Amino acid sequence: MENAKRLSAERALEFVEKGSVVGVGTGSTVRWFIEALGREPGLIKGAVSSSEQSSALLRQRGIEVLDLNAEGPLGLYVDGADECDPQRCLIKGGGAALTREKIIAAASERFVCVLDASKRVAVLGRFPLPVEVIPMARSHVARELLKFGGQPVWRDGVVTDNGNWILDVHGLSITDPVALEARINQIVGVVAVGLFAARPADVVIADGVVVAGSV
Ligand code: 5RP
Repeated sequence: MENAKRLSAERALEFVEKGSVVGVGTGSTVRWFIEALGREPGLIKGAVSSSEQSSALLRQRGIEVLDLNAEGPLGLYVDGADECDPQRCLIKGGGAALTREKIIAAASERFVCVLDASKRVAVLGRFPLPVEVIPMARSHVARELLKFGGQPVWRDGVVTDNGNWILDVHGLSITDPVALEARINQIVGVVAVGLFAARPADVVIADGVVVAGSV
């Protein structure tokens, strides 16, 4: 599994333009991408990071962390996912970084998703869907999410980089990800939902092979 993640992350280097600013996601797959960038000093001008965790890793590898407001829009965003369907729609947020990840994906021309092949599914939903919520809205949002047929579970003890909480929605079978993303976004108190469907990945690399999209 780890080797599959590494192969995908290293393949994503093909999409990096010299001297550019690259958007960098969060997680164990992206960690390999950061390692690979660190082995190529001077390849990029710097990175826009989706989490405090990735910012620390980037700085450890000598890569400058830059501000999206100053650098955006970006040409490239590289990130992992928890699940990916054939339309390149994703579930993300297993690492609780979904909101910043979604912002960078929205502000990037090309989103390259790196993963191991076990995350490719026909229908999204086996992985519990993360929803970032304003803390005081947790119970309200959970009651609203019950109406979609899933079981929301508070990820107790986890505080996001934005100071918010996460509900993980179990038991969904997401046959219309675009519609579900829009409906969950309408719930008052939701900061972001970990469905990346209105803005899916452009390119998917699984086990080091480009399986959707093109170079
Ligand atoms: C973090 C994410 C990650 O991209 C996702 O959880 C996949 O992580 P990993 O590469 O460790 O399997 O969305 O919020």
